[in-house]
Amino acid sequence: MALLTGSNKINIAVFISGTGSNLKSLIKFSKLKKSPIIIKMIISNNYKAKGLQYANIYKIKKKVFNFKNILSEKKVINELKKNDIHLICLAGFMKILSKSFIKNFKGKILNIHPSLLPKYKGLNTHERAIRNKDKYSGCTVHFVNSRLDSGEIINQKKVRIKKLDTPKILAKKILIQEHKLYPAAIMKIFSL
Ligand code: GRF
Repeated sequence: MALLTGSNKINIAVFISGTGSNLKSLIKFSKLKKSPIIIKMIISNNYKAKGLQYANIYKIKKKVFNFKNILSEKKVINELKKNDIHLICLAGFMKILSKSFIKNFKGKILNIHPSLLPKYKGLNTHERAIRNKDKYSGCTVHFVNSRLDSGEIINQKKVRIKKLDTPKILAKKILIQEHKLYPAAIMKIFSL
């Protein structure tokens, strides 16, 4: 994909379930001149997601779907197509998308995961890294395929685990890096 500029920017949707700090960092990034993206919509499976506040603050369209079945996913797909969305960024989105959804947006879904994949796919990554006495953990941005946290890796950032780190402390340190890593991953795929 070549770098897109000006009116050629690509429309993206960010999917969230919770706090939305990665969403916020993507919104800030999208406002930079060099950014190849426009955040056209925010989608959540949770109407209580704190991150939905950014839709109001930054005047971005938001929609909540339950993602519980194929029918609900079809509604999401229709919404995305209606809004001319060409890239989906999962950012703390806690639902597993169906194979057919992923097929519909093949190669156009990114995810950020709080570990150095392929280590620690799934949940509780910080607890597991600390329990195993790893020296480093970190975060990864990757393309989404039909296997959990297994798609092609775009970029990663290592974070040192200190002796006294609790899962909470480590999560905080890694989150700070996530906020830089996601924009960098987007820059990377559009400059290839
Ligand atoms: C991040 O650590 C992300 O990697 C993980 O969930 C967290 C979401 O944080 N999947 P936020 O909602 O972006 O603040």
